[in-house]
Amino acid sequence: MPYRRSTLSKFIIEEQRKLSGGSELIALVNDIQTACKYIAVAVAKGPLAGTRGSTGNINVQGEEQKPLDMISNDIMLKCCEWGGYLAGMASEEMDEPYAIPDIYPRGRYLLVFDPLDGSSNLDVNVTVGTIFSVLRAPEGVTDPQVADFLQPGTAQVCAGYALYGPTAMIVLTLGTGVHGFTLDPDIGAYILTHPNLSIAPDTHEFAVNASNQRFWEPPVKRYVEECVAGKSGDREKDFNMRWIASMVAEVHRILMRGGLFMYPKDTKDPKRPGRLRLLYEANPMAMLIEQAGGAASTGRGRILEVKPEALHQRVPVILGSRNEVARLERYHAEYDRGEDQPFSSPLFNERSLYRNATA
Ligand code: F6P
Repeated sequence: MPYRRSTLSKFIIEEQRKLSGGSELIALVNDIQTACKYIAVAVAKGPLAGTRGSTGNINVQGEEQKPLDMISNDIMLKCCEWGGYLAGMASEEMDEPYAIPDIYPRGRYLLVFDPLDGSSNLDVNVTVGTIFSVLRAPEGVTDPQVADFLQPGTAQVCAGYALYGPTAMIVLTLGTGVHGFTLDPDIGAYILTHPNLSIAPDTHEFAVNASNQRFWEPPVKRYVEECVAGKSGDREKDFNMRWIASMVAEVHRILMRGGLFMYPKDTKDPKRPGRLRLLYEANPMAMLIEQAGGAASTGRGRILEVKPEALHQRVPVILGSRNEVARLERYHAEYDRGEDQPFSSPLFNERSLYRNATA
C-alpha cells in the first residue's frame, strides 16, 4: 500500500523518537524540505521562469551570483526563520550571519547552507543542489555572531543535501546512517527510497578537475597519474574519471555506487587553501560520507576535525571510498616526510599526467 511508505516527515519523527530527541529538529527538517520543494520547482522551470543569466553581483567568495542563487537563498531564509527553533543562519550567499527577525522566537539550532551548489551548471540544465548543516547554538546564545558558527564538523547534529536532477531527492543523516528520499510529485512528499546508504571501500572511479593539474601538490599528482596509468601502472587496474562540476551530484554518485571526489589543495590562488567551503560544503558532505562508511580528508587529516577560523573558510576536500582516501593520506604523509622522491623531486615536473596512459 503506497500510503504506508515512509515519508521524510515520518522518518524524522521515528528517528527522533529512537534518539529521544526534541521536536525542534523535526520541525526544522520539515521546513528545510519545504524550502527544497520550492527550490526544486524554481529550478525545474528553467528558462521559462526568466531566472537564467547573472544578477551582475559578485558574492563574498568572488563568484558570480545567479538569480536562482539569490531566490534559493531567500526561500531557505523565509521557510526556516519563523518556527522558533533557530538562533541564526549563515549561507554562502551572505557575507555575515542572518539574524532571525525580532517578530519570531529564537531557538537552539544554527542552520548553515549553500542554497544552490553547482549553479554554474544551471544554464546547461545539469544537476544542482542545496547543501545544509545543522549545529547547536552555544548555550545561552540567542543572537549568534560569526564565532558561534565556527564549530568543527564533528558538532553537526544533522547534515544533508537536496538534489535537483532528473528526480528531486533529499539525502540526509542525523548521525545514524544516511538515508535518501525521492520527491513523489503526485503527492508532493519525499519518500524513503534509499535507506542505509553505504559506500564500498574500493573503487575504480575518481573525480577531479584535471585542468588544475599543474597547481596540485605532488601527492595528488602521484595519485592521479597512477589512476590514469591504469593496468599499465602501479595500480594494475583501469580507472574511470568523472567531473560534473557540481559537488552535490558528485557526492550523490559516490553514495550510490562508490568513488572518489577531490578538490585538493592547489597553488592556483595562494590565498586559498582549497576551493570548497568548510562550513556549508565540506563539513555536511564529510558527515554524510563518513556516516555511509566512507572517509573525508583534507589529505592531512579528517575534514570533520578542522577547527573553523572564518565563516567562508575554504578547505582541501578528498572524500569517498575509504581505501582510496587512505591511499591519498598516505601519499601526503610520505611527501611531507620527504619519502616520495620520484614525485617530490623537481624532475617530477617533467612527468606528464597522461604520460603512462599513452606510453
Ligand atoms: O562552488 C562549488 C562548486 O560549484 C562545486 O559544486 C564543484 O565541485 C566545484 O565548485 C566546481 O569547480 P570548477 O569550476 O573548478 O570545476
